[in-house]
Amino acid sequence: LDVDASWWFRREIPKTLFGLFFEEINHAGAGGIWEELVSNRGFEAGGPYIPSNIDPWNIIGDESSIYVTTEPISCFARNIVALRMEVLCDKCRTGGVGIYNPGFWGMNIEEGKTYNLVMYVRSLEPVELTASLTCSRPSHALENLASASIQDNNVSNWTRVELQLLAHETCRTSRLDLTTSKRGVIWFDQVSLMPSDTYKGHGFRKELIHMLLDLKPRFLRFPGGCFVEGDRLRNAFRWKETIGQWEERPGHYGDIWNYWTDDGLGYFEFLQLAEDLGAAPIWVFNAGISHSEGVDTTSIAPFVKDVLDSLEFATGSAESTWGSVRAEMGHPEPFPLKYVAIGNEDCYKEFYEGNYLKFYKAIRKAYPGIQIISNCDGSSRPLHHPADLYDVHIYSNASYLFKMKSMFDRTSRKGPKVFVSEYAVTEPKDAGNGSLLASLAEAAFLIGVEKNSDIVQMACYAPLFVNNNQPGWKWIPDAIVFNSWQRYGTPSYWMQTFFRESSGAEFHPVKITSRYSNSLAASAIIWRDTDNSFLRVKIVNFGPHAVNLTIRAHQLRTTVDARGSRVTVLTSSDVKHENSFRNPRNVVPVTRGLPNAGEEMQALLAPYSFTSFDLAL
Ligand code: AHR
Repeated sequence: LDVDASWWFRREIPKTLFGLFFEEINHAGAGGIWEELVSNRGFEAGGPYIPSNIDPWNIIGDESSIYVTTEPISCFARNIVALRMEVLCDKCRTGGVGIYNPGFWGMNIEEGKTYNLVMYVRSLEPVELTASLTCSRPSHALENLASASIQDNNVSNWTRVELQLLAHETCRTSRLDLTTSKRGVIWFDQVSLMPSDTYKGHGFRKELIHMLLDLKPRFLRFPGGCFVEGDRLRNAFRWKETIGQWEERPGHYGDIWNYWTDDGLGYFEFLQLAEDLGAAPIWVFNAGISHSEGVDTTSIAPFVKDVLDSLEFATGSAESTWGSVRAEMGHPEPFPLKYVAIGNEDCYKEFYEGNYLKFYKAIRKAYPGIQIISNCDGSSRPLHHPADLYDVHIYSNASYLFKMKSMFDRTSRKGPKVFVSEYAVTEPKDAGNGSLLASLAEAAFLIGVEKNSDIVQMACYAPLFVNNNQPGWKWIPDAIVFNSWQRYGTPSYWMQTFFRESSGAEFHPVKITSRYSNSLAASAIIWRDTDNSFLRVKIVNFGPHAVNLTIRAHQLRTTVDARGSRVTVLTSSDVKHENSFRNPRNVVPVTRGLPNAGEEMQALLAPYSFTSFDLAL
């Protein structure tokens, strides 16, 4: 394997090359990275179009002691449903009767941590209420983990109640109980429980954020995916309904992935998430098109205005109409929003072309600095409309994705740039729940992306997260698997760590001469950390044979220092191997020193492996 490390053949890789795609799918947000522990906090699930329901809330007591219903009586105009609880018993059971919420398949409550409870309560009589965190385990009695009580003589108007619950034990399957022993009627609305130690106090689950930070993402595409479109337009993501006070947000039913979200993780929080990750935000907005409906271009003007408002919200001054709303939410400085995508996978749908042009012209005029992304893949033929970038989505089996490493070799270098905004091996027989094989094919594909990064500006894996507790995963595989308290990366997650230093690095050409070259893929970069420079040579061996190679670096500007050099390998004894909660480190990169490192060195690549040589310069 020959690397041309000369100054003349270097090329700078775009600083934005590798990033993340966050979609509200698989409970990635609600019940995932957004650390609201109560599910259906406003009793609104179901939304305004089908009768509201209280799931997964349930009653404590029985039908002779308590009667619960939902009513349109809330003090919040945009989410009018509240819960009415009528206590029928004079001598209620020990501990009282009431309601409980198990969160997203059990709350993770940890000893020594404080949980902030906020709820709205109303009753014509003085109330006596206890809020408790209780541990619920099959065939065990409920155990109290924390409690606080309120006795309020006047809650005849809706009253905001705030309590802090300090847990004295750990339990991964806990619930929030709200109980009373006093006969009467109490209304509840907007019940929220969050740990007091979310990431930077911004509401994000810390350990999951750290997994994202470890990938050094340069951009964050959000909030979907099909989630942006909805099956019906009324169920699409509407940014204006997701901003402002959390209590006022109506929430919505995502009818593509079939679950309710309270939209605590809204447009503002996505922009905040990008900022916290040090990633450039990429806002994918609905183009007036859902999976089964479309707005005729003659009627698209209100949608265009809505998108311009979203851009003012993100980037306008704190004095502007929408920028002032952002400032009130605690972010007076504008967010650096530089990319928008007009729709998701809508290219061939009726009205896309017409709607696209309306959005494009309005955004270009009002925000000439914003880069506009089209849904129409121009990698093999020219687009019919102007764009700065176009989306490419690729889901396939492993051998096809491996071959697709040369997909962009012949793509036109004129015109818009490529954004591979979704890629993954998804064929079940290859990918399983996230296999080594899938990650190797993806690594080869990304090596092709690096090689073509004069035209490919961005690439991100999809989907990012799955909550393992949800009944029936919506999409398999995913990069990160979690439950209420554990998480692990699939091999596809770990594969991405090999590319985290590529964005902004120097690309150098490589040439492989081997009888196995059809099953090899390789690239070379020079990258710098704070103190050192490295020549990194990455090689995927996508075949069943061990491969011996001589690696030669030609025209290096300096010599290789074996002492600071190392090699990192991702492999396993079986390509079908996966990670799991029981064995989260079954397939992970292993790093060791490289005493034989030099301008010329021998390397042995394991069958079905991904190897990265970092030669210290
Ligand atoms: O990544 C999962 C889905 O795949 C996305 O929502 C959609 O854009 C694509 O079809």
